[in-house]
Amino acid sequence: MKLVGRVAFVTGGGGAMGGAQCRLFAQEGAAVAVADLFPEKARTVAQEIVAAGGKAIGLGLDVRRADQWAEAVAAAESALGPIGILCNNAGANVRVGFDEQTEEMWDLIVGSILTGSFLGIKAVIPSMRRAGGGAIMNLGSLASIRPGGGSPAYGAAKMGLVGLTRSAAMTYAKENIRCVLISPGHVDTPFIRQDNVYSPNSLATSIDNPDNYERRRLATPLGRLQTPDDIARAVLFAMSDDAAMITGSMITVDGGAHM
Ligand SMILES: NC(=O)c1ccc[n+]([C@@H]2O[C@H](COP(=O)([O-])OP(=O)(O)OC[C@H]3O[C@@H](n4cnc5c(N)ncnc54)[C@H](O)[C@@H]3O)[C@@H](O)[C@H]2O)c1
Repeated sequence: MKLVGRVAFVTGGGGAMGGAQCRLFAQEGAAVAVADLFPEKARTVAQEIVAAGGKAIGLGLDVRRADQWAEAVAAAESALGPIGILCNNAGANVRVGFDEQTEEMWDLIVGSILTGSFLGIKAVIPSMRRAGGGAIMNLGSLASIRPGGGSPAYGAAKMGLVGLTRSAAMTYAKENIRCVLISPGHVDTPFIRQDNVYSPNSLATSIDNPDNYERRRLATPLGRLQTPDDIARAVLFAMSDDAAMITGSMITVDGGAHM
């Protein structure tokens, strides 16, 4: 029970990694605001937590919208209390290269990952002050280490999170608020398996294609893709008092894929 008495706000909370964080945080005693672009996905996770005896609410939120952030944070604080944990999981990708990537794709990807995390931090900080401190997690990627020649907006946004994380860590350390970047490797989730509006996939990119699955597995020295729970356990550590002296850092949870 590492998070007793804490309130957590989790974006992309209706998704695989965000959902795993919400369930684990609730098991560890936190009350959880589950926020997602698709409100029904958020509500499903919240209902599951409540059915298991925990405390949670589900909220609709497009992280690209400052007005929606203000409403969602106010609703979470009035239902659960001041927010001590923020996890920015929401993201988007369109897996095409420089020549094919449009300005619209750039706006979707950078807006969801980088602007969304920036707006989230700004929206939640006043609540964290009322909580007496807090911890923020931004969700990085292998693209936060070596973006390569794929989707340029994805590389720019995930590298951008390195700077955003350090900027928030430096700014708010004196107020007992930490900020950490968690960078997963290849995680078996709908983000890389299904055809989503925020993350389109075809057989050319999906891990439903055995060639793509195998390529990602072989790129992972520990020999398997990560599960959402692998990542959630590291996020729990980073958000708990066990990580009281960790801020501005990147923690990779990738089976060694960054090497
Ligand atoms: N799966 C991987 O291999 C992998 C690796 C590294 C990083 N990531 C990052 O993980 C995140 C995706 O999570 P996942 O892999 O669990 O996939 P997922 O598709 O299960 O979850 C993503 C969730 O984010 C929500 N979302 C999308 N756009 C949003 C918006 N604008 N506002 C609010 N919510 C929004 C979706 O509805 C979905 O529930 C992204 O940030 C991605 O960059 C994924």
